[in-house]
Amino acid sequence: MQPKLTAKVRCADKEVGRVSKVIVDPISHEVSHLVVCESNGHGNERQVPMSHVREVLNEEEILLGCSSNEFIQFPAIDRDQYVTIKEVEIAHLEDHLHVEPGEILVPLPTLEQGVPRRTFFNNMTHAIGTLIALPLVFPVLKYLMKPMYKPFDNAWFSVGNVKRVKKENIGYQFKFTRGFKEAFMPEQNIEKNIWVVKATPEVQKAVYEGKDKKFHDDAGDVVWVNKRNSPYIGFSGKCPHLGCGYKWRRTKNFPDGVFLCPCHLSIYDEAGKVLDGPAPRALDVLPLDVNAAGEMKIIDVEYKAGVKNQIRLL
Ligand code: FES
Repeated sequence: MQPKLTAKVRCADKEVGRVSKVIVDPISHEVSHLVVCESNGHGNERQVPMSHVREVLNEEEILLGCSSNEFIQFPAIDRDQYVTIKEVEIAHLEDHLHVEPGEILVPLPTLEQGVPRRTFFNNMTHAIGTLIALPLVFPVLKYLMKPMYKPFDNAWFSVGNVKRVKKENIGYQFKFTRGFKEAFMPEQNIEKNIWVVKATPEVQKAVYEGKDKKFHDDAGDVVWVNKRNSPYIGFSGKCPHLGCGYKWRRTKNFPDGVFLCPCHLSIYDEAGKVLDGPAPRALDVLPLDVNAAGEMKIIDVEYKAGVKNQIRLL
């Protein structure tokens, strides 16, 4: 049973406050902590791990397995370390949690910090499983995916006009449609998106590090060069961690805005550099051309997710 956000909170000896917020683990979608606003008139908000909840009575009342003296030892919430789920999108969270009205928070810092051991063993299990299975499945996969083993087509896609980009160093999303063919299936159109930043010279420098950026085809030939002083920079809409879509968001800690990925909370600045989270590299810059009328087109390059270096897939 899930607690209501206004539920009373009792210790063994007395009532200590009401639930004012809940903190959710964005991976498991489970409530990890209750934030309890003390009823002693000071309005302090303490962060109580769910492991200290003994019972949820009719969603209206929560019984903690500690005394009121122990309760006041729980730390006060550091609100800067969290964002609300209105600021990040957690897929399917609403299906799982019914705690409205009120604030549902997810932690802002790197999520993996607290679980190195679990992560290590999970990764190890996956790695061993993959190694055992690879010789068996690779010939089958290669056969099934044969249509994907073709040279990069380097086709240009129109994405819109730069007039929409009003301010410098802010992310603007542009959508486009691309035909995609999977093995043995008819071609389908898929919706994709990129983020465009009109970069100041400082941000251009941070992105290009003073050098033009060359893009290559599968034979190693240069197909396009982004000039280091071009103001418009296009980032692939896929997060380099595991490929989720991310958004431009303003948060308390980043009032001017950052790119924030909802899946595991990687944060990138306007130059695409990683500020926080598990992302292994900066956002992927795309080949981008702007004509005299301001119409933008891009080559829809895709790189492998989850690795430090850019390995082109598409
Ligand atoms: S996919 Fe994991 S942080 Fe974006």
